[in-house]
Amino acid sequence: MPAQIIDGKAIAQEVREEVAHEIAGFAGSRPQPSLMVFLVGDDPASQVYVRMKGRACEKAGITSETRRFDADISEKALLQEISAINNDPAWNGLLVQLPLPGHIDTQKVIEAVAPEKDVDCFHPFNVGRLSVGMPVFSPATPAGIVEMLKRSDIKTAGKHAVILGRSNIVGKPMASLLVQKGDFANALVTIVHSAAADISEYTRQADILIAAIGRPEMIRGDMIKPGAIVIDVGINRIDADNEKGYRLVGDVAYDEALEIAGHITPVPGGVGPMTIAMLLKNTLKAYHMQQG
Ligand code: GUN
Repeated sequence: MPAQIIDGKAIAQEVREEVAHEIAGFAGSRPQPSLMVFLVGDDPASQVYVRMKGRACEKAGITSETRRFDADISEKALLQEISAINNDPAWNGLLVQLPLPGHIDTQKVIEAVAPEKDVDCFHPFNVGRLSVGMPVFSPATPAGIVEMLKRSDIKTAGKHAVILGRSNIVGKPMASLLVQKGDFANALVTIVHSAAADISEYTRQADILIAAIGRPEMIRGDMIKPGAIVIDVGINRIDADNEKGYRLVGDVAYDEALEIAGHITPVPGGVGPMTIAMLLKNTLKAYHMQQG
């Protein structure tokens, strides 16, 4: 029997409607929540993501603005721009789209964002709170995955979750969330990365397999445990004979995985839309905290 498809687009829509509904409930009587987005340079994928984030904010009733900076902006000037938003009560959230040009120290930028406006949950203060089970914000991609599992009624307690990739944006915070005590957590977590001699040794043990390695269709059907829950975080462009000249694929060979997994997220339409929905939730949270 083919795997059940976890429809991230539909679940994200539910979350977005909930956020929009809550904001509509106080619209008019209070200021709207607000998100400032910084985009440095002209990375094509970042431009698409930032546009999607802006549109999602608008639909939810969140005021948003994207401030664009030339790729050669100095680190000092960017830090000053961040400081100005930190000190401006008109903005509840500030997101600096990554990646940044090579001459800018990404970690310095992340640490410059005020923790209470850090809707990405990238600042070490928020990462630290997350790792001790006291999160302020939820990191968008991992929290989106947990939300998808929750709303699909997929239990994680006692299951072996194997996370492929150790990035600060996905792999590490994913492990932090799944290892905590609590519902839709309490998993036994393994992080697998490029130092593994043979990743299939680990992927085959996964009840829940989360692929975030950025390698198109690297995870083949025979690397997956029958009945496993497969969450594909990858969004990779590969050449295709169509108008665009490319198509999007995940880190998992979808057609093969469909035959063996119990549940699977598609690409596109899986994890990606959830990420934006969780960003809206975080912005609303920042707003409530700042409104007291
Ligand atoms: N680049 C890729 N994903 C993200 C994200 O979630 N937040 C930011 N700021 N940049 C990204």
